[in-house]
Amino acid sequence: MSDKPWGGRFDAPTNAFVEAFNASTHVDARMYAEDIAGSRAHATMLEGQGILSAADLKLILDGLNQVESEIEAGEFEFSIALEDVHMNIEKRLTDIIGDAGKRLHTARSRNDQVGTDTRLYLRTRTDDLMIRIKHLQVVLVKLAAEHADTVMPGFTHLQTAQPVTFGHHLLAYVEMFGRDKARFMDAQARMNQCPLGSAALAGTTFPINREQTAQLLGFDAPCANSLDAVSDRDFIMELLAAASICSIHLSRFSEELILWMSAQFGFIDLPDAFCTGSSIMPQKKNPDMPELVRGKAGRIVGALMSILMTMKSLPLAYNKDMQEDKEAIFDAFDNLEGCLRVFGDMLPGLKANKEAMHKAAGSGFSTATDLADALVRAGVPFRDAHEIVGKSVAFCIKESIELHAMTEAASAAIDSRLTLDMVQDLSVETCVAARNHTGGTAPNQVRLQCKLWSEKLAD
Ligand code: ARG
Repeated sequence: MSDKPWGGRFDAPTNAFVEAFNASTHVDARMYAEDIAGSRAHATMLEGQGILSAADLKLILDGLNQVESEIEAGEFEFSIALEDVHMNIEKRLTDIIGDAGKRLHTARSRNDQVGTDTRLYLRTRTDDLMIRIKHLQVVLVKLAAEHADTVMPGFTHLQTAQPVTFGHHLLAYVEMFGRDKARFMDAQARMNQCPLGSAALAGTTFPINREQTAQLLGFDAPCANSLDAVSDRDFIMELLAAASICSIHLSRFSEELILWMSAQFGFIDLPDAFCTGSSIMPQKKNPDMPELVRGKAGRIVGALMSILMTMKSLPLAYNKDMQEDKEAIFDAFDNLEGCLRVFGDMLPGLKANKEAMHKAAGSGFSTATDLADALVRAGVPFRDAHEIVGKSVAFCIKESIELHAMTEAASAAIDSRLTLDMVQDLSVETCVAARNHTGGTAPNQVRLQCKLWSEKLAD
């Protein structure tokens, strides 16, 4: 004999290890509020359609309130013998209110139930992530405004390229996080359809009102196809893709913070409260938070791979494989939220070493492109200008001097079109100020973008 809610056709009890292996309560118990909300909506609809009596509805709603209070007070014991959050709550409800509790599952299956719960739960968690992203953007815009004039080297291939402003560099991440938020919003809009009423896979023989349950739960509409509704996990794949891209952005930022905090760069210092020391090397202050955030990207992208592989080749409709969907995304969302929180809290304490940044910005012939541009403005074709400046750089390397220290004789010897005023005009400030167009690194543009972002982030 089986003591399960589905045990009627079983002669033998479940193997003890299978019982534990099969259970998902340790993962899905956190969706209890959504499960109860779904049951309230379902029962209300059943009563409205004459499928459930008013007296039963009252018992169910009161009973669900009690179950919810018990869970919130920590008095509820989830049993693995009851497999998942759905059957745990239904069983407790039935213990409290008797037969009315047994009627709740009319015209419903755990297949449409779990799809509904997961969408509801992730809808809220996605809101939480978007709030964190927005906060991080606010922090970055503020920091960028403070550093609109701070000059640092810009890199390509991690080799000095051209001077940029630190504010401009920070605003690059504000753009990335803006796209991340848009991706989450986009996925959230697409997933906001209600599976309830699809029952196991084909719908139900009862005269249900799916529009009503969808509306009661804040969905835009019921899912249009019952087979799709119970077997669709696109929303998990999409949300994890968005989370993965966001975590990749955080990992790139982390990598830069780690490099910048090294003695070799010396561009920034991070607050003590976000760093740790070494148990053997007394001098150490390690950027553990950016390192950990960089590492979390592996885990979050792993969650995306996990759901993609779980869904690959699955026939319609529900398959138990899909129970594996929640653990990965819950873990990924918890960790991404942690990463965003740490960055949002840590970055206001970032100290920039403007002198070190400025010094580095001026070394490595970072003004060479600007010298070529000056030649072009004097009528020299760009390819010739490139060649002339290349020769000048080679000369300066041999002499161990910077471009602006070239003498008139030296420049004339390289090419008569290269004049001393062109060379002497070269400063990192001139370089950044000159890139004064939409999207450019000029301090004026940084201030403009900070203003535009502040307005966008204000609502
Ligand atoms: N615990 C299951 C899950 O997370 C719920 C749906 C189970 N349905 C079933 N017929 N076994 O996917």
